[in-house]
Amino acid sequence: MVAVMTPGASAVRDLHVAIIMDGNGRWATERGLPRVDGHRRGAAVVRRVVEGAATLGIGTLTLFAFSSDNWRRPRAEVATLMALFGEYLEEHASACVRAGIRVALIGRRDRLPSSVRRSAERVETATAAGRVLLLRLAIDYSARDAIARAAERAVRLGHFSREAFADAVARGDGPAPGLPDVDLVVRTGGERRLSDFLLWECAYAELWFTDVAWPDFTTEDLGRALDDFARRERRFGALPAAPATAGEPNL
Ligand code: IPE
Ligand code: IPE
Ligand code: MG
Repeated sequence: MVAVMTPGASAVRDLHVAIIMDGNGRWATERGLPRVDGHRRGAAVVRRVVEGAATLGIGTLTLFAFSSDNWRRPRAEVATLMALFGEYLEEHASACVRAGIRVALIGRRDRLPSSVRRSAERVETATAAGRVLLLRLAIDYSARDAIARAAERAVRLGHFSREAFADAVARGDGPAPGLPDVDLVVRTGGERRLSDFLLWECAYAELWFTDVAWPDFTTEDLGRALDDFARRERRFGALPAAPATAGEPNL
C-alpha cells in the first residue's frame, strides 16, 4: 500500500507496477542459444515474479508480454511466443485461483490465435473473484492503439466523459476495470524507453531501468525497484509537502 498525496487530498491505494520484460533474445544470443530459449526462460521468470509481487504488496501488476509491433518479428519466433502465452494461461489458471490472483488481458484480441483467446477467456472467468493481485497481461498491446480505439468508441457512442475514456484506454478489450495510473514502470534488458507501453497511464509514473535481462530478473530485483520507488518524492506538479513542525499540525 502506498500513500499518494494529491493537492488538497490524500488517499491510500494499492501499488500499480508495470514491467517491460525485455532482453530475452539478447540473453539467449549471448549464450549461443536460439532467441526462443530466452523466451522460454522468460516465461518461467514470469511465474516466480508474479508470486513474488503478491508478497511485496503490489495490488496490480501489468506485464508487457507482446507489443503490437512485435508481429514484425520472424514467424517462428512469434509462433513460439503465442504457444508460450497459451501454455502459461492454461498451466497457471488453478494456481492463480488458489492464490487470489485475477488475470486479465489488455490489448487486441482479434489477431491472437483462437486457442490463446479461448485460454485467456477461461482464465479471466475462473479468476474473476481474485482480490489479492490483479495481473494484467499486455499481449498484442499498443498504447497508441488503445488511446485511438477509446477515442473511436467515444465518437461511436456520441458521448465523451473523461472517466469513461480513461477506463476504456486502460481496459482495452479486457473485462477488468481500467486502472489508469501506473505508479512504477520497471524495464529490464538495458533499454531506456517505453516502446508504446501505457502512455496515458504513465503520466506520473516513476521509471526504473535495469541492465538485468528478463530471464535473470528475480523477485529480489523487483524488491530493489520498490525500495528505490519508496525513496522517490512524487509531487504531481504540486510543491513538496512542508516538513512537519513540532507542536504544529501538518495540514
Ligand atoms: C522481450 O525480449 C520479449 C518480447 C518483446 C516479446 P526481446 O525478445 O525483445 O529481447 P531482446 O530485446 O531482443 O533482447
Ligand atoms: C517491448 O520490447 C515489448 C515487450 C517487452 C513485450 P521491444 O524489444 O519490442 O522494444 P524495442 O523494439 O526495443 O523498443
Ligand atoms: Mg527487446
